[in-house]
Amino acid sequence: MSETQTSLMNQQLDALLYDETNLVANLANASALINDTYTDLNWAGFYLYNSATDSLDLGPFQGKVACMHIKVGAGVVGTAFADQQIHRVANVHEFPGHIACDSASNAEIVVPLTKNGHKIGVMDIDSPLLDRFTAENEAELAEFAKILVQHID
Ligand code: SME
Repeated sequence: MSETQTSLMNQQLDALLYDETNLVANLANASALINDTYTDLNWAGFYLYNSATDSLDLGPFQGKVACMHIKVGAGVVGTAFADQQIHRVANVHEFPGHIACDSASNAEIVVPLTKNGHKIGVMDIDSPLLDRFTAENEAELAEFAKILVQHID
């Protein structure tokens, strides 16, 4: 995917969320769109920052039941939120502090969500396949996150 070309999935996201600002509704459909578009996933969803507890709370997702709260700085999710960087992990078992919510997960990508400097949370996608996520996937998901936050108040 080139820098200038918006993928079909990202065009679909923009259309799907048109005129809708409800956070839960938008995140629920965003997780369903990723799960329908990407092959070989076992989990796709969101963790939202809770400033009262300084942790990330489980949000809308597709997949098996998952960890409800993740401390900032813990696992791939908490690390991506803490450093505000995308983490594309080929083998989660080699990631220090990886949190094994689902033992089927082998690869993971976590994308921070921010809007106007406000840290909303992260998007987390897991796969049973080692090295599942490519640099192209990362670019597409970074753009996906940008479109998504445009639809969040
Ligand atoms: N494996 C993640 C935890 C979240 S679940 O995969 C849904 C981590 O290490 O942050």
